[in-house]
Amino acid sequence: SDGVVRRDRFGGGPARSFLSSLAADRRIFEADLEVDRAHTVMLAEQEIIGADVAGEILTALDAIEVDGHGSLPDGEDVHEAIETAVIERVGADGGKMHTARSRNDEVAACIRYRLREGVLAAIETTLALRESLVDVADDHRETIMPGYTHLQPAQPTTVAHWVLAYEGAVRRDTERLLAAYDRINESPLGGAAFAGTTFDIDRERTADLLGFEGVVENSMDASSSRDFLVETTQALSTHATTLSGLAEDVIIFANRGFVDLADDYSSTSSIMPQKKNPDTLELVRAVAGDAAGSVQGLTTTLKGLPRAYNRDLQRATTHAWETVDAVTEASEVAAGAVATADWNEETLAAEAGEGFSTATGVADLLAANGLPFRTAHELVAIAAENSAERSSAENASGDEPRANGADYDALEAAAREVLGESLSAHVEREAVEAALDPVESVASRDSQGGPAPEAVAPQIETARESLSAD
Ligand code: ARG
Repeated sequence: SDGVVRRDRFGGGPARSFLSSLAADRRIFEADLEVDRAHTVMLAEQEIIGADVAGEILTALDAIEVDGHGSLPDGEDVHEAIETAVIERVGADGGKMHTARSRNDEVAACIRYRLREGVLAAIETTLALRESLVDVADDHRETIMPGYTHLQPAQPTTVAHWVLAYEGAVRRDTERLLAAYDRINESPLGGAAFAGTTFDIDRERTADLLGFEGVVENSMDASSSRDFLVETTQALSTHATTLSGLAEDVIIFANRGFVDLADDYSSTSSIMPQKKNPDTLELVRAVAGDAAGSVQGLTTTLKGLPRAYNRDLQRATTHAWETVDAVTEASEVAAGAVATADWNEETLAAEAGEGFSTATGVADLLAANGLPFRTAHELVAIAAENSAERSSAENASGDEPRANGADYDALEAAAREVLGESLSAHVEREAVEAALDPVESVASRDSQGGPAPEAVAPQIETARESLSAD
């Protein structure tokens, strides 16, 4: 006998492919080789296995890496297949590689090792996106645009102010991913099946060799917990949700002619030759649905799973891989689409006052001049209502362009109705005209975090500072 044991009692039957994660494990092939190397080096250093055998195993692992995942022998998963390949090269002594460990701590180590890379790439894309957003803000500090609540014109703002709202959210997305990274970055290796080992292993050493910040101490926790997957997938899903809002805004703005997407980020129609569609952003929007679905799938799989290892965990991992790929790509595309889009400043300026969006500013002005805010609100509301009636009558007659809201005369009429006196008894006409102007309206809202260019400047500064800190 060559001392090489062939597994044939379990898992060779009709359920073989159902059991196997070999194809899905493609992603952790390199990670598993690294984990095998670290473990083998530690075993030799601890004199648990001989240095000669360790050397042969390491040589075999290098050869297996060159041959690639596709050349692996059959196996229930990548861990088993690599071990079989090592034994094929080294002989029965190759089986010493699996001393003092289990596939349970091994797979947990591989997932964490590989997920670090994926999460770092995702974090990088959030940084690139933030940079694109801040650049747009920088270029459009004074670009007036309509601001919305309930998707109805609400108050004029600027493109800078709008885009910085998303920058703030993406900044927090980066923070969440960084926090998730720290908890991924701990080594479960050496936990063995769950119950530790009789061998005198050095867990700190393998953690160090694999670049982990420390170890997951409790061996049962190490090999069977997956809350790091939940946390990561949730953080990615939260980021995807931010992206979907950004995408939706840009889709709406493109629809209104506020912004033109670059051709690279648009698609046309196979039948309607004139079409330029924001398909990339629609797909970005949809990724949020996939990511939320993954969080749901993952937490549903984990819910009520007893300690320690259960094979359900094999199917938990895929949710994290799919999410990290899709969200990273969506974030990259969103950054590119925003960075290359063209803002139509004239259209934006013309529409900034739509729907009497300066009404709040007029009410604020009257309140600042001594009227109770509620009375001012009512006065402006009456002016708005009368103007709306007038403009729909004009629209029906077809000879006037649509009025954008109340003008001074409408406010004056409302003042007589509500106060029984002229508006000029309270405030100068010039101040009212200024409040009605979208540009002046924006400039006057200079409270901390507001849209006035002076209030936006420190926001841009903070955004740039935190970008270089992250
Ligand atoms: N492929 C498995 C996974 O991804 C690891 C193997 C552990 N298998 C076992 N029967 N204990 O979770």
